[in-house]
Amino acid sequence: MISRKKSKELFSKASEVLPGGVNSPVRAFVGLGVAPLVVEKGKRDRIWDVDGNSYIDYCGSWGALILGHAPSPIVKAATKQVKLGSTFGITTAVEESLARRVVGHLPSMEKIRFVSSGTEATMSALRLARAYAGKSLILKFEGNYHGHSDQLLTGAGSGVSHLPPGSAGIPKEMVQATRSLPYNDIEAARMLLRTNSEIAAVILEPIAGNMGLVPATPAFLQMLREETKRAGAVLIFDEVISGFRVGLRGAQGYYGIEPDLTCLGKIVGGGFPAAAFGGKREIMDMLAPQGGVYQAGTLSGNPVAMCAGVATLAAIENPSFYQELEEKTLLLTEPVKRAIQRRGIKAHLAQIGSMFSLFFGVTKVESKEDLKDLDHALFNRFFSYLLERGVYISPSPYETSFVSSAHTEAHLRYTQRLITAFIDSL
Ligand SMILES: Cc1ncc(COP(=O)(O)O)c(C=O)c1O
Repeated sequence: MISRKKSKELFSKASEVLPGGVNSPVRAFVGLGVAPLVVEKGKRDRIWDVDGNSYIDYCGSWGALILGHAPSPIVKAATKQVKLGSTFGITTAVEESLARRVVGHLPSMEKIRFVSSGTEATMSALRLARAYAGKSLILKFEGNYHGHSDQLLTGAGSGVSHLPPGSAGIPKEMVQATRSLPYNDIEAARMLLRTNSEIAAVILEPIAGNMGLVPATPAFLQMLREETKRAGAVLIFDEVISGFRVGLRGAQGYYGIEPDLTCLGKIVGGGFPAAAFGGKREIMDMLAPQGGVYQAGTLSGNPVAMCAGVATLAAIENPSFYQELEEKTLLLTEPVKRAIQRRGIKAHLAQIGSMFSLFFGVTKVESKEDLKDLDHALFNRFFSYLLERGVYISPSPYETSFVSSAHTEAHLRYTQRLITAFIDSL
């Protein structure tokens, strides 16, 4: 049994001054039956807690760290900028460099605006979409998470998954302005878009990562593309996770379907607080100061985050980057898939590129509805088993885990052996 005495003490002290001891709910490990991690440092594919225990990290700050912890090109780029000044609230050249790089990879994004979090990106994209469409209703999907703004918590995934619908404190007018339908349900979404002319925008994770990993079916995305066009609604892909994760062109490149607006976060900021939204020029030019849609931020386009973003993109633009990353991931996931089949247990391993989730208690997952029989007790046992043996996966059955380019073959094989032994023991 590893000791986490200091972590427990620190978390308890933190709880005196931080609600729940955290600055974001899932970090509190609620319902997991283990004490939350309190981390001190990270290097490559590992993190160390304040007690000195190390863990191979498959959460990677919720997918932000595609190059692992503290990669030297990013440390160098960010340090150099910090020395020159960390924020000015004035335009810097690096904002243009990162913008040009991003729009170069994502042809659907003709213009982009940087913000500081994914929540801001989706919230701002919605306001812009409402202004462009001249309507106010939003269609989203059950189990997708788009950050915590008022209009987007109805039926949301991630930390909201096990709470009563949505959140307290949201005006009922905002809830009423949101429709939430089952993910991948083609008929339900088509019907709504054909019968309700007030839908301003449809927002979704084209590869959902906040109810565990659940990809959209190509037919579902194709239908949304066609029906939003017909209905005069803006199609928004929330690629805060999938952007630069499943490839340089994100989920839109993976499926070959272009949205009107795209939201990015996590990887685009290279591990610093940056996110973005962007799309067609005629929509983006409605933003202030050019247009009448107001959106602003003291730290938006922060030069340290922009430098980290540029350094990250420079690394992932290496032609073999994504293929190597997927090959690494398969070292872990393929033997686990085979173990599930061999043992015939009720479980499902989903994997796309370097994203993966292991669901216990269900064998097929296409929507949140399919998760109603999820075996939470078994996930808790699995999570603790791995943590005790120095492996940290995303701490909820509703989250996705990630492999970074820093994961070593030895660590991936070690993890795979642990997981297959767990499955064999069931
Ligand atoms: C798909 C998606 N959209 C939006 C967000 C919100 O991003 P942030 O936590 O940076 O506000 C998240 C966060 O995990 C996300 O996964």
